[in-house]
Amino acid sequence: MSEILCVVGARPNFMKMAPILRALRAYPALHPYLVHTGQHYDEEMSRIFFDELDMPAPDRDLEVGSDTHARQTARIMTAFEPLVEERKPAMVVVVGDVNSTMACSLVAVKLGVPVAHVEAGLRSRDWSMPEEINRLVTDAVSTWLFATSEDAVSNLRAEGVAPERIHLVGNPMIDTLRQHLEAARARRAPERFGLERRDYALVTLHRPSNVDRADALRRVFDSLGELSERIPVIFPAHPRTRDRMERAGIASPPGIHLTEPLGYLDFLCLMDQARFVITDSGGIQEETTALGVPCLTLRPNTERPITVSEGTNRLLGEDPASILLASKILIEEGPPQPRCPKLWDGQAGKRIAAILASLGEVNPTLDLCAEGR
Ligand code: UD1
Repeated sequence: MSEILCVVGARPNFMKMAPILRALRAYPALHPYLVHTGQHYDEEMSRIFFDELDMPAPDRDLEVGSDTHARQTARIMTAFEPLVEERKPAMVVVVGDVNSTMACSLVAVKLGVPVAHVEAGLRSRDWSMPEEINRLVTDAVSTWLFATSEDAVSNLRAEGVAPERIHLVGNPMIDTLRQHLEAARARRAPERFGLERRDYALVTLHRPSNVDRADALRRVFDSLGELSERIPVIFPAHPRTRDRMERAGIASPPGIHLTEPLGYLDFLCLMDQARFVITDSGGIQEETTALGVPCLTLRPNTERPITVSEGTNRLLGEDPASILLASKILIEEGPPQPRCPKLWDGQAGKRIAAILASLGEVNPTLDLCAEGR
């Protein structure tokens, strides 16, 4: 009987872990124990996802909450360490690139417990993004690396990771999307917000580079205000964005429909039926690609280049004024031909669970150095 600690902490983790937990049910010898670090804690940032994705309640909530990077990371580590000592798991599974991902990986490896990282190998090469640091550290200490795309595999190989540690499994977040798309469409979210199908732009922006500096945030809203004169704009605002708007005294222009953060199904429905999406989120670049909806990413780089080369994503750079020109083309032209990367087929969770099961009796004293790192 092997216990596997499965870690989630922040909003984008939930849709990645849900299909893995479901697929693990097929292997009675593996016992998932779900840990929520509490990095995200508001009802609409956390609980609603458990309900809508039909996830089991966490077996343990570490309730760490928000803080600076160092203090939040330290709090997660301090709370997770005794739990690992208590549960003595065979392995720890982490997903994505948030502070919880990195903090729990570090704790596990130092206690001699092997780590499996789902969504390994993504690289933006932009060390000003906290997520890039989290990705590098997590991959460096993980024993098993589950990659969503070929480019992620190439990155890991170039960093010297032994091929037998790397598994190209596809994208579990897209498993969740495919599973819930019908239910999401039935929610008729555009109609409820007074919008018409394919005749609105959906916006989400929360990266520190776009929202933390008052001048940058003001220019974002100037551009979005102008955009809203051409097409209705709906913007479910992350608490961080809302907070920075209040601090900088920025009011949303009247043409923009600013809402609270939305649940998974409403947001998926809005994304699926949008004319196009403007974002700085990593996950949304992938979800729009899977849906065939054009995506404009307000960032100079992406750790998910496959969404550009094989999907619907376009990088705008950092200047919010670029939103207007790129949007004009999308308003005037029809949607692109949908295309989707290999293995984003709804089966990634099953592939991951099968590999975890095949690892069999995991040796907790596995020596990373001896394995070719
Ligand atoms: C985190 C992740 C980011 C991810 C994002 C998704 C890191 C470094 N960043 O960023 O990669 O894209 O989650 O949402 O892990 N807050 C609330 N309620 C909550 C959670 C947060 O009000 O439930 C507010 C707090 O004021 C907090 C701020 O949002 O200080 C930022 O939260 P935090 O988890 O630190 O980072 P995110 O910006 O959410």
